[in-house]
Amino acid sequence: MCGIIGIIGRDGQDIVSNILQGLEKLEYRGYDSAGIAVWKNESIHRVRAVGKLCNLQDKLKKTPINGEMGIGHTRWATHGKPTEENAHPMMTKDIALVHNGIIENYEVFKNELIRQGYQFTSQTDTEVAAFYLQAELDKGANPREAFRKMLCDMRGTYAFVAMFRSLPGILFCAKNKSPIAVGFGENMCVGSDASSISSCCDEITYLNDGEYAEISKDGSVFFDKFFNEIQKDRIKVTSDLVNSGKGTYDHYMLKEIMEQPSAIRKTIQANKISKDFLGGVSRILILACGTSYHAGLVARYWYEKYLKIPTIVEIASEYRYRCPVIEDNTLVLAITQSGETIDTLEAMEYVKKSNKTCKVAAIANVKNSAISRLADFVFYTEAGVEIGVASTKAFTAQLTVLALLAFCDRPDLMAQIMSLPSVCDETLELLSAEIDALAEELQEASSAIYLGRGNLYPIALEGALKLKEISYIHAEGLASGEMKHGPIALIDDKMPVICLCPSGKIFDKMFSNIQIAKARGQSIVVFTDEAGAVQFDCRTIVLPEIHEELAPILYSIPLQLLAYKVTVLKGEDVDKPRNLAKSVTVE
Ligand code: AGP
Repeated sequence: MCGIIGIIGRDGQDIVSNILQGLEKLEYRGYDSAGIAVWKNESIHRVRAVGKLCNLQDKLKKTPINGEMGIGHTRWATHGKPTEENAHPMMTKDIALVHNGIIENYEVFKNELIRQGYQFTSQTDTEVAAFYLQAELDKGANPREAFRKMLCDMRGTYAFVAMFRSLPGILFCAKNKSPIAVGFGENMCVGSDASSISSCCDEITYLNDGEYAEISKDGSVFFDKFFNEIQKDRIKVTSDLVNSGKGTYDHYMLKEIMEQPSAIRKTIQANKISKDFLGGVSRILILACGTSYHAGLVARYWYEKYLKIPTIVEIASEYRYRCPVIEDNTLVLAITQSGETIDTLEAMEYVKKSNKTCKVAAIANVKNSAISRLADFVFYTEAGVEIGVASTKAFTAQLTVLALLAFCDRPDLMAQIMSLPSVCDETLELLSAEIDALAEELQEASSAIYLGRGNLYPIALEGALKLKEISYIHAEGLASGEMKHGPIALIDDKMPVICLCPSGKIFDKMFSNIQIAKARGQSIVVFTDEAGAVQFDCRTIVLPEIHEELAPILYSIPLQLLAYKVTVLKGEDVDKPRNLAKSVTVE
């Protein structure tokens, strides 16, 4: 999940600052290391640094470089540890190359290139591509021939951008499974997403798998996988594609938590869903990963209860490896924020290749993303660009779309959905101080348990994921009825137990599960509403009343805030947690 960028300057323009600006927008995709290479006076100059982009920027202040064409990279390590030697761009004497993805057959070429005498300096698969190109040049191929031959030989996932010392003013880029946008405007440019190049261009196009482009300062020539020239449609770079920065917030995550009422409102307005969409559907298959998978788990409760359609929710990375039975008349719902998660993409393709009569729809937050382009139909969440690695506003927007489909035939529940933005606003205003106090205590914990029942069990899973993925405190979400079948052994006076228990049909069952926990531990906290709070004699945090079917959306918000505040107290990096990246484009 790396970020790549390439920019061609005009009339001697130095593009280093443009590349660094683009890398800032790409850092959410990976931050193990960063690097830049520029072409100037028949030479390629490179600077790389381990760790976050600021380290590269500091290094460039001490050892500045400039040039009229360049490429940049932010890395999420796949092959080789996060060291400077493994930082992109990879370079040979005549080439610089950046890559997002995994070359699956790189070892065959590496062994042959070593036998031919080429000396590698990194453990990366990407360096093999660079030396592959160098070896072709050394055999007399020109850059186009070399690049095309590499595309024919390399297997795996890639978004490549390459520049050649002998070819000023031309960038080569190619895509297979990892995203690439080509920008047209003030500068010709290429990047992993529209936001990274939005300061240099006002129109973009996206490469499809197998396509490649040769970009010059006057335009770009596109080719399909047979190297036939093709034409590409362009789209305007609009504000919803562009990261507008943190504003007055300390972190993107807090900004995005606070944007949820607006994200839900815009998502409701943008998705008028009729029951006709479900015509002929005899089963629903939800495919997703991580937080998006949790959204799917909530939807299953709604769909079987209100649509009476059998619904299964699958972890996308597991789905196609278990030889699943696919039935005709299945509606597939691929849920994704980034639209680039390769596990989800591959699972969708698996269904499409089954030749069963399935409708493959996506719920996505990024327009023109790979998943939205693969889907037969897309419900867009209108959450806006989500930068924080921990997904928040996209999650509640996903739940909103899923609810609009579930309740499309229920005016009473649709009315409840319309009230969601104001109830979420009220919750955000109400809870801050109480969550602060709870975070103070939770920050000392080494582990935590989250309990939920019914449609709040997935929210217990989601609350646990939020805490562990940014604060690094281990946390486990449990179906509260399952506690007594083993995990209850974990509960003692030190184990924080976060319980979700709004009023509703399963309040009594959840209440008794909480009593069982209370009998064994002192650190019990219950998120409930006024009616529920009076029945508890332990710590409660009271949320506004909400219809029990929509409680999953509302009860996510305090858990997001809790994870955020604990992480800030612990001094960890909220927006760029270790080992993670925002969009997972490797399997
Ligand atoms: C979200 O908090 C997580 N960082 C992660 O689990 C994410 O939900 C998952 O990688 C799926 O991403 P997607 O929604 O972009 O497909």
